[in-house]
Amino acid sequence: MADIVRFRLEDRRAIDTLYRRVFGHDAANASQLRWNWQYLQNPNNPPGGPQIWLAREGPTIIGQYATMPVRLTLTGQDIAGSWGMDVMVAPERQRQGIGEVLFRTWDQHVGASLGLGLSASSHRLFKKLKWPEVGPVPCLVKPLTRRAIRRANWPMSLNRLVSAITYPYVRFISRNKPLHAQVEPVRHFDDRFTKLWERVGPSFGLAVRRDAAYLNWKYVEPPHVRYSIVALKRDETIGGYAVYRHLQEPRGRVTLLVDYLVDPADAVGLETLLRWVDREARAADSDKVRLFSMHAGFRKLLRRSGYFPVKSTLEFTIRVNAVPVPSGFYDHTDDWHFTLGDSDQDR
Ligand SMILES: CC(C)(COP(=O)(O)OP(=O)(O)OC[C@H]1O[C@@H](n2cnc3c(N)ncnc32)[C@H](O)[C@@H]1OP(=O)(O)O)[C@@H](O)C(=O)NCCC(=O)NCCS
Repeated sequence: MADIVRFRLEDRRAIDTLYRRVFGHDAANASQLRWNWQYLQNPNNPPGGPQIWLAREGPTIIGQYATMPVRLTLTGQDIAGSWGMDVMVAPERQRQGIGEVLFRTWDQHVGASLGLGLSASSHRLFKKLKWPEVGPVPCLVKPLTRRAIRRANWPMSLNRLVSAITYPYVRFISRNKPLHAQVEPVRHFDDRFTKLWERVGPSFGLAVRRDAAYLNWKYVEPPHVRYSIVALKRDETIGGYAVYRHLQEPRGRVTLLVDYLVDPADAVGLETLLRWVDREARAADSDKVRLFSMHAGFRKLLRRSGYFPVKSTLEFTIRVNAVPVPSGFYDHTDDWHFTLGDSDQDR
């Protein structure tokens, strides 16, 4: 049986080679581009270095579980969590129990183990190991143009008809609306964003701690993706932020609202940020804005701003080890705040 050991810097080449074999060249090149940022520069790394576990047989690495440490706020308590991310076993050694040992080792070493956007095989394995399932994180879309309503599996004539019927409504919900507070682009999260988190974070049942160090690492410094960031300002206080980017998809142009934060009671604040993002999306010629939101209160406000729930494939699983959780904890997620920006789904 393989030995499970902690990653050392000299293992990097062997991991790259295994990654190339399991995921292919394109994925391996993309991983190379973000690897240092993702695993060495995370401000939540423990003193022992990145939280990566390896399955080793003699000199050969045959498996890895690479994870992303984060601080979690669980109804005001701070616990050390870790997102499971790049997990792989050498093709000739799959389905022999090595993945299971890697999953269990990771779980035993962290205050909470979390997975987002699971592949079919890891989803099956999480299920087999009886991790609580809470997902998927609901997805919402706001149409901005008649192209937004198109479906790939509909014939063109049906797409045209639906576009024509819905167009007046799409125009109505996507019209320009005034901003009720000051919104300002930022290139850096300063201490005021940590203060925002300290004010707002305890109101969530569960969320990743969004302090300035985390936000800068996650949204300003990544080498593989570039975000626009805006802050909601009220005098010198930061009332919220939004992180977004525009991208071309096969069926049209999309603005992804990757992450956002306001006090859940601050309906005007969220509405103002959403109106800003609408304007930016229209300026970028996007057909729709898409986001993911676990929080029921935010989703209610989003629906009032013209967002519709659509099918989500962003599966979510979590197991809390650091503290006992009440029964039914994993079934009552309405006050949890998770978005696409959590984990490393936006690659
Ligand atoms: C996911 C992975 C790490 C699991 O490692 P493993 O050593 O094969 O897993 P184990 O032998 O411990 O557990 C096997 C269980 O995992 C699940 N599983 C593994 N491979 C699977 C596959 N191809 N399809 C469906 N389920 C799969 C099943 O639940 C399986 O149980 P079963 O054999 O009783 O049906 C490995 O399959 C792998 O490297 N896959 C390719 C890379 C990948 O998809 N990584 C996850 C996304 S980052």
